[in-house]
Amino acid sequence: CSDFSHLIRGIEPGVTVSVKWRGKPVFVWHRTEEDIKLANSVDIGSLRDPQEDWERVKKPEWLVVVGVCTHLGCIPLPNAGDFGGWFCPCHGSHYDSSGRVRKGPAPKNLEVPNYTFLSDDKILVG
Ligand code: FES
Repeated sequence: CSDFSHLIRGIEPGVTVSVKWRGKPVFVWHRTEEDIKLANSVDIGSLRDPQEDWERVKKPEWLVVVGVCTHLGCIPLPNAGDFGGWFCPCHGSHYDSSGRVRKGPAPKNLEVPNYTFLSDDKILVG
């Protein structure tokens, strides 16, 4: 079985936890008010892969993305880069606090996997 549920209770605001899903890392980030505000203050028309923040989350305070750079598959570093999200050290792609690509060679935003909130403190990925 490649699906799993993950307890998110206890993940403090600002913290990103990495869990494994189908052999890939999935990042679960408990975003702060500031992270959410930043994600919603972007001119969507300026994005390489235009997506609103609300299209990428089920609850604003939780961002769940596959931790694989859309350029050539490295694992980006959380809480890094110029846009309040991730930085991929392989060739310098920057992702924002919604996991959207903002700079560097990555063609796409970080992928949002299928997931469901089983309860307020538990999610099922897959
Ligand atoms: Fe991430 Fe190239 S693999 S920038």
